[in-house]
Amino acid sequence: MNRRDLREQNRESWNAVVGVHDSHRGDLARFLREGGSTLFREERDLLGDLEGRSLLHLQCNSGGDSISLAKLGATVTGVDISDEAVLSARDLAQKSGVPATFERADVYDWLERASRDGRHFDVVFASYGVVCWLSDLEAWADGIATILNPSGYFVLVDFHPAADIFDEDWNPARDYPSAGEPLRLDEGVGDYVGEAVGGLTPAGFEEGVGSFENPEKAHLFRWGLGEILTALAGASLRITTVEEYTYTNGERSFARMRELAGRRLAPPEDVPAVPLMYGLRAEKS
Ligand SMILES: C[S@@+](CC[C@H](N)C(=O)[O-])C[C@H]1O[C@@H](n2cnc3c(N)ncnc32)[C@H](O)[C@@H]1O
Repeated sequence: MNRRDLREQNRESWNAVVGVHDSHRGDLARFLREGGSTLFREERDLLGDLEGRSLLHLQCNSGGDSISLAKLGATVTGVDISDEAVLSARDLAQKSGVPATFERADVYDWLERASRDGRHFDVVFASYGVVCWLSDLEAWADGIATILNPSGYFVLVDFHPAADIFDEDWNPARDYPSAGEPLRLDEGVGDYVGEAVGGLTPAGFEEGVGSFENPEKAHLFRWGLGEILTALAGASLRITTVEEYTYTNGERSFARMRELAGRRLAPPEDVPAVPLMYGLRAEKS
């Protein structure tokens, strides 16, 4: 499914909200300069040693993770559709003094162009709220496989589609995602960084912009886990690890979440354990 029209609308919705998210992040540049990292253990473990590797960070948002990855020794290129996110990421790189390159593009255009130009990377990474913005999983997976170096690998950490059947009070509300079915969000991309009250702001939480209403609607694409894995396998990527986690890292997606150590959040005691995130590593074979 191409749906460039919906992805361009998503660009507007992200452009409207990036500054609001950033307003909660505190002095992230200083935090990064002084040795901090925005990464969680799950992606660190899946990524392994990054020293000297070229790394493509897809859907990099405001670049906190990209810069944290660069601090681990990778040469990082971040790509995002949002003009505001890329401006913010460049500003963060400059202020934190960590070199990283950021390019604004729709992931599909970028992968097609990079493949035409013969660009290659040792590692491709994407995380935390990425697959739901993709309208075509096969083109995405094929693009990633094409630009990976022969011994390269892809790491993805994202929210689990199983969690998507619940509304925010843990009531079963929607079918399990499948076939990339578009879901229109009239309220657009929300202020999930503010709602996480510190879970997504390791440099400290700022009150920032309060009561934000996004004037730009957004469209999600609902995929099941099997479809995601099949797209990667179909692109001849050898899936070596799939982990499922019964907690979220930082994001307070549901009511009454229990706080665990390390900015993790689990469902309340009366909700059965359910996978809220998954992580995978797939290698070029
Ligand atoms: C939830 S954020 C990802 C979080 C990010 N990993 C971080 O470290 O903050 C999703 C990102 O996907 C980007 N995005 C959405 N659709 C896209 C597309 N078609 N191409 C490239 N980026 C896209 C958005 O602009 C947004 O920055």
